[in-house]
Amino acid sequence: MPIDKVGVVGCGLMGSGIAQVVAQAGCHVVVREVSDELVAKGLKSIEKNLQRLVEKGSLTEAQRDQTRGRLRGTTSLDELRDTDLVIEAIIEQLPAKKELFAALDKLCPKATIFASNTSSISITEMATATQRPDRFLGLHFFNPVPVMKLVEVIRTITTDPKVFEEIVGFAERLGKTPVRTSDRTGFIVNRLLVPYLLDAIRALEEGVGSIEDIDKSMKLGCGHPMGPLTLLDFVGLDTTYYIANVMFDEFREPRFAPPPLLKRMVLAGWNGRKAGRGFYDYTDPQNPRPMQLK
Ligand code: 3HC
Repeated sequence: MPIDKVGVVGCGLMGSGIAQVVAQAGCHVVVREVSDELVAKGLKSIEKNLQRLVEKGSLTEAQRDQTRGRLRGTTSLDELRDTDLVIEAIIEQLPAKKELFAALDKLCPKATIFASNTSSISITEMATATQRPDRFLGLHFFNPVPVMKLVEVIRTITTDPKVFEEIVGFAERLGKTPVRTSDRTGFIVNRLLVPYLLDAIRALEEGVGSIEDIDKSMKLGCGHPMGPLTLLDFVGLDTTYYIANVMFDEFREPRFAPPPLLKRMVLAGWNGRKAGRGFYDYTDPQNPRPMQLK
């Protein structure tokens, strides 16, 4: 039986995007947040995205209504009890994730597959909170989820190969391009991306170029859609700092060590676009201005 009922836990930036693409692909989705306010906020952002697709002509009004009809928000974990697959996209904290998966393990039938959208936490360690390490894997989406084609599918040494291939097929059903990878912190993308982003900060610290020139160089010199400092603001400096620390803990290699400027910006709360400032000031979101950081 193909996967039909999907639970998504967390309806923030990633969770709402995941819930949207899964519902658009024809699955029934229950998305859970911890408060009514957060459920409403997440569903509102999905609604905005669907409406934008209708306005652009890439979704008909009927398809939008069908997608809406397949999507339900809740604050109760109980409503995920009869799902075929649960995708977790909550805060990047191991204890919170383990607690959630332990609760889901008691609630869901043995056949339900558990997946985490974590960008850096060990999938194997999360699976230890459950009695189903064979039906547990990583499913890592990229921001913005409705736009980015890639999904990393992450196997642990305990993941059943049949379950792994089933989820690779599921990612294809979502219209995504899956890549197969293993449970090594950062997987493929962040393993390569994080040292690059940290190096851009080091280049700025060393005065190699201004914020704008570093970004311009990688956009125009390498054809990247965003320069590294803009991308850092987009991903979130706090998120990048967290991932870098987890990767440094795992590998003990200087290339993963967060540079002092990143740490200080996170301490100051300058976490990027969502905080209104990072490497750029977003007072006018259409016209970000580089910050004076020295
Ligand atoms: N939600 C839905 N759709 C969005 C969107 C969003 N948040 N942001 C942009 N879009 C859509 C637009 O509607 C537009 O669609 P169209 O082509 O059908 O009209 C399309 O994306 C392009 O958007 P824009 O024309 O407004 O702007 P850009 O051409 O600059 O594209 C971008 C925006 C897609 C975000 C592009 O700049 C980009 O690809 N940036 C790099 C993003 C990236 O690297 N993401 C990965 C981050 S790492 C990560 O997520 C891993 C984690 O573990 C840290």
